[in-house]
Amino acid sequence: MEVSAHTAAALEEATRFDELGLAPPILAALTDLGYQTPTPIQKQAIPLVLAGRDLMAQAQTGTGKTAAFALPLLQKMLPHANTSASPARHPVRGLVLAPTRELALQVHEAIVTYKKNLPLRSTCVFGGVDMKPQELDLRGGVEILVATPGRLLDHAGSKVVHLSQVQFLVLDEADRMLDMGFLPDLKRILNLLPAQRQTLLFSATFDDSIVGLAKSFLQNPLKVEVARRNTAAETVEQVVHKVKEDDKMDALIHVVKAREITQALVFTRTKIAADKLGRRLQKRGIPTGIIHGDKAQIERLAALDGFKQGTVQLLAATDIAARGIDIVELPCVFNYELPYSPEDYVHRIGRTGRAGASGLAVSLVSHEEERLLGGIERFIKRDLTPAPLPEITVAAAPRAEVPAPAPTAAAAAPIQRSIRRREAPVCALLMPPAPRPPEPVAPEA
Ligand SMILES: Nc1ncnc2c1ncn2[C@@H]1O[C@H](COP(=O)(O)OP(=O)(O)OP(=O)(O)O)[C@@H](O)[C@H]1O
Ligand SMILES: [Mg+2]
Repeated sequence: MEVSAHTAAALEEATRFDELGLAPPILAALTDLGYQTPTPIQKQAIPLVLAGRDLMAQAQTGTGKTAAFALPLLQKMLPHANTSASPARHPVRGLVLAPTRELALQVHEAIVTYKKNLPLRSTCVFGGVDMKPQELDLRGGVEILVATPGRLLDHAGSKVVHLSQVQFLVLDEADRMLDMGFLPDLKRILNLLPAQRQTLLFSATFDDSIVGLAKSFLQNPLKVEVARRNTAAETVEQVVHKVKEDDKMDALIHVVKAREITQALVFTRTKIAADKLGRRLQKRGIPTGIIHGDKAQIERLAALDGFKQGTVQLLAATDIAARGIDIVELPCVFNYELPYSPEDYVHRIGRTGRAGASGLAVSLVSHEEERLLGGIERFIKRDLTPAPLPEITVAAAPRAEVPAPAPTAAAAAPIQRSIRRREAPVCALLMPPAPRPPEPVAPEA
């Protein structure tokens, strides 16, 4: 696990993006985005990836892991950038796998933004939508492919995509990708890739069994850990209220009012519970969307989209919305039901308090859930002492009264608040593909 002197120096010294070895067209895209300084994980991971190392990288939710792998991936693809119309000149060289369709889409959108000045092609494939537009893109040739595993295997099976030239594999939410649900598909995909490649695992959580398993397909990997392992983002204030199961709905509405919460993701454990909760909230006159795995993909995207655009106040969700999803300045997450796995707790509450913003996570815990709460406390190595429900004051307190704890040095993340905008509707993805725009001219070497 040695680091070259050059890389070690870069690790210690780099405090600006232009010191990380990224090409000017990439730096220009970051400037346009309002990114001023690299986050700790970006500072640490980018030089190591550029040095060709396999990585297991862990950093808290919302601290810029996407750019930590996407930027060096683009840099490494640069020698292959070309404007040829021939599909053969655009084989898949970089493959990013994500566990949910919504996350794959989001990661691809980030890559598109970062690569806007580069003549590199990319696309995103995931299940639940028409295969045809995806096939068209894949047949045209792309250097970078973001995918969910099942749909990727469908395309690979019908020989629409060939993965024999992949040099660079990223597993986002790697611990999830390596759990029992995804492992068989992942193994099939690994069999299609060249053994000689660079592999990067990124997540906010890793447990020891995953570490062992991952080592079997990484080559001499380096472990990069920003902050203590499995800790929740420091920018999230965590609150627990003990509530009887039957009183949870009233408690939820009470906290929303008392804290003047403008928007919140509300997590349940099951699809049925998310549906039921969403419908009950709608009946109570609260604009609420619903997202879970039994919904049609168009409905899933529309629900997330409506929430991102601010057209609904609450989004009742299962854990499909727990990982990776980046909702601009989401103020609050509720655990209406605690998750069975403590990792999911960390990821759920990490939908708020992102990119240096403060956030609030409220868990409504019934007597039956106390054991789950204990498991979470042990996992995050922190006591979550229950507090009484907040009082509703006549002139309700402004949200500023929900202070974020002072960030610790590690999380004090020199993450600059970027100029954050509501994103464009993702439903556009379900439309027929627009003709490929003219590609920018290749940057100078
Ligand atoms: N250097 C930076 N400066 C400013 N904003 C940044 C920077 N890097 C990333 N961001 C923004 O921070 C937000 C969170 O980034 P990202 O989604 O990559 O987090 P993450 O670490 O992958 O979180 P999670 O563990 O939840 O997946 C995004 O909106 C991204 O645009
Ligand atoms: Mg992420």
